[in-house]
Amino acid sequence: MNLASISEDKDKEKRIAVTPEIAKKYISLGFNLSLPNNYGSHLGFSDEEYKNLGVSFSDSEEEIIKNSDIIIQLGLLSDEKLSLLKENQTLIGSLNAFSNKEKLDNLKSKKINCFSLELLPRITRAQSMDILSSQANLAGYKAVVEAFQVYERAIPMMMTAAGTVPAAKVLVVGAGVAGLQAIATAKRMGAVVFATDVRMASKEQVESLGGKFLNVEGAENLETEGGYAKEASDDFKKKQEELLTETLKKIDIIICTALIPGREAPKIVKEEMFKNLQSGSIIYDLAAIQGGNTAFTKVDEIVEKNGVKILGEANILNKLPVSASNLYAKNVFNFISNLYDKENKKLNINLEDEIIEKTLIK
Ligand code: NAI
Repeated sequence: MNLASISEDKDKEKRIAVTPEIAKKYISLGFNLSLPNNYGSHLGFSDEEYKNLGVSFSDSEEEIIKNSDIIIQLGLLSDEKLSLLKENQTLIGSLNAFSNKEKLDNLKSKKINCFSLELLPRITRAQSMDILSSQANLAGYKAVVEAFQVYERAIPMMMTAAGTVPAAKVLVVGAGVAGLQAIATAKRMGAVVFATDVRMASKEQVESLGGKFLNVEGAENLETEGGYAKEASDDFKKKQEELLTETLKKIDIIICTALIPGREAPKIVKEEMFKNLQSGSIIYDLAAIQGGNTAFTKVDEIVEKNGVKILGEANILNKLPVSASNLYAKNVFNFISNLYDKENKKLNINLEDEIIEKTLIK
């Protein structure tokens, strides 16, 4: 089978779906692999390195697309490239099934198989394929590094002859995959860490990392069967607001990660809460692209409000694209290994398999 990947728009997406390490694995499985010239050179992966592993290169992306059975990407291809796809070809990536519904329905009507990996079920068997976890983990780490870099004070407590520097106090809003990594990273750097979430299961996880969990008194557990958060009730939102408003008086840095699948991010740090934050505080909002967790977040801008800086980027993973690509490429390889029938050398779209059924656009 012919496998390919096309260059992303590098101004928006620096990650790649096939690293040399993974190219080798595809070739060992018996795939022919084609890539466009300079596919990974911006990350230090030369064409030569791939060619030595048996990868074919071409300067025509059109040719590559036309000759491939499976195309692996980060996001959805441009409309122009999508129009080159034909019946029975398979497209795999983080295709954003909710926001690209119309385009994906159109591909489905042309009998093109699209697998959108952000739809993977959060089950044990899918963990090695879980692009949301691998990328969120790195995003949580990097958000802390970015916030600490802008913060104009030290993070750990230091006792010196000239006096004591207090430890920075960090609040992590949303303790899912990104939030837990943010807690671990901030702790490692010496911060005192607080966290809040609507899912009760996260309390134990926060505490096991040394964070202090902020419990919304009397709140019901807002967790779906799939492990995601539900929209909070007005009563919960009010209690959470009161709790956070009080807590913010002692907080220096906030890392926002709260998301509800398929919806706009919940607004948690509201306009009136900003008056409780000290000047010089920093907020890094990982939910920026979904509308943000604060009243003032703007994508790719540093907004300043009462001396508080609010940061939020469209794609923080562009700041560690090599690590992110290494994990993403492995996730996709594991997904394809599960989809590929090695004996008959073809894809086996077995809808009895929850992993395949949930990710296929139907
Ligand atoms: P996510 O990225 O959708 O959301 C981030 C966090 O924000 C979640 O913990 C969510 O509960 C929280 N949140 C939403 N609204 C909030 C609000 N109003 N206030 C405070 N917090 C709020 O979640 P993520 O990180 O993708 O994790 C989703 C679930 O998947 C979790 O239960 C996680 O443990 C589970 N998971 C399971 C895996 C498995 O293979 N078993 C692998 C990875 C994650």
